[in-house]
Amino acid sequence: MKEMAKLTEARFELHNKTPIYTALDNYSKENIIHFDVPGHKKNKNTPLASAFGERIVSLDANSTKALDMLSNPSGIIRQAEELMADAYGADYAFLLVNGSTFGIISMIMAACDPKDKIIMPRNVHKSAINGIILSGAVPVFIQPEIDTQYGITNGITYESVKNTIRKNPDAKAIFIINPTYFGTVSDLRAIIKLCHRHGIAVLVDEAHGSHFPFHPDFPDGAMALGADMSTVSIHKTGGSLTQSSVLLLNENIIKYERVRTIINLMQTTSASYILLASLDIARKNLVLNGREIFDKLLTLCEKAKAEINKMPGLRAITRDNYVNGREIYDYDETKIVVKVNNLGLTGFEVYDIFKDEYNIQLELAETYSVLAVTGPGDDEESINNLVNAFRDLSNKYYKKKQPFRIPIMEYFIKPKTVILPREAFYSKKRSVYIDEAVGEISGESVMIYPPGIPLVIPGERITDKIIELYKFYIKHRCVIMNDDGNPYFIKVLGE
Ligand SMILES: Cc1ncc(COP(=O)(O)O)c(C=O)c1O
Repeated sequence: MKEMAKLTEARFELHNKTPIYTALDNYSKENIIHFDVPGHKKNKNTPLASAFGERIVSLDANSTKALDMLSNPSGIIRQAEELMADAYGADYAFLLVNGSTFGIISMIMAACDPKDKIIMPRNVHKSAINGIILSGAVPVFIQPEIDTQYGITNGITYESVKNTIRKNPDAKAIFIINPTYFGTVSDLRAIIKLCHRHGIAVLVDEAHGSHFPFHPDFPDGAMALGADMSTVSIHKTGGSLTQSSVLLLNENIIKYERVRTIINLMQTTSASYILLASLDIARKNLVLNGREIFDKLLTLCEKAKAEINKMPGLRAITRDNYVNGREIYDYDETKIVVKVNNLGLTGFEVYDIFKDEYNIQLELAETYSVLAVTGPGDDEESINNLVNAFRDLSNKYYKKKQPFRIPIMEYFIKPKTVILPREAFYSKKRSVYIDEAVGEISGESVMIYPPGIPLVIPGERITDKIIELYKFYIKHRCVIMNDDGNPYFIKVLGE
């Protein structure tokens, strides 16, 4: 069990405060006559107020002296950032209003100058690839562990990091996912120690791990283990509003000023106070009530998985039978990953069936499995609805069809980088029909969303296997993301 900061009376008092929310609430009640932006002027007789309610409009404000400024905080935002840093055991916290996408790009740009090497698993979210393009850093990709049973990619091993550092001792940074979308965790403690011995900065994508520091049964959070930076999507699993995230910094290799400068290069000067206040409220709730909230959630998830694992044709990942014997260090039990292909269905079909027939929106589908994300807002009723839908699915489909199987290992492709992503991004490109793209160098990132892990990124060689896999996803009606919105065309290098 990990160490957690005790909720002493002093800590309770400290975190019981919500500096941004409190100031914003007071400000909204002052009946100020606004001759500043936003232009809706908090007018109650606008389409905006009738659509969203007067309260939302009255809280929507711009930066003022009273409300501080996200790019240069010295008042309430600074206080909120200090509280956030304390909650995560970090030296500094930077509140963000453009999701973890922005935090990840900022981490990479803060750690790497153009041409610096950064080690990362190939199953990164597209934001990390965008960070590579913008920074001009040179990616050194590690192949993540692959689980052919569930058809998912997992973390990276200590050994693979060690080998990669041996071949790239000049690497400036490493980028780790903690946890992966599916909840798997690498041995971050050992990897951080190893990297720091080589002067390599450790950047962590904790988009799906913002809840880790708030319950002793969760895997460790990156800041507590001494990582240099981490980005946490508090909006995903911590209870704040969509788009609100935090970049955390332990100041050692990377300095505060550098991160602030990079953030101010790109972040809006009109940050939404509703999003910022939601971070305040979520942080207070996590520190004060996280233990209790996640006790309940973990019990519900455990019961749900035990039920699902009794259902013919279904199998849910649990820490006990997953971590052992696999190259996985730990597992986040709030993720409900269920293998469904033995019912003769793909994960993509189950994803649609859940929405169409049970009114349940799952987080994502893979070929063999689906992922249900749980969070602080779940309760017995919502989890029961999920379990009942799986039960009905098993009753309807078990033994009615042959299990769905494909040579899944062939579908985990490690494309070959031919030229740097940034170079490819700035090269001349042409759009070709996908069949004609085989053998060409990609000029864009192409992915299914979610999870948003690119099949191919700028600068990688497009093979017939990549196109085969791409067509498989199109056939299964996955949401494809590419530059021009037409999945049958892809940009390749050349005129
Ligand atoms: C692993 C991972 N990292 C980063 C992100 C980006 O987070 P955000 O949506 O907050 O920008 C996502 C989003 O799904 C993700 O899955």
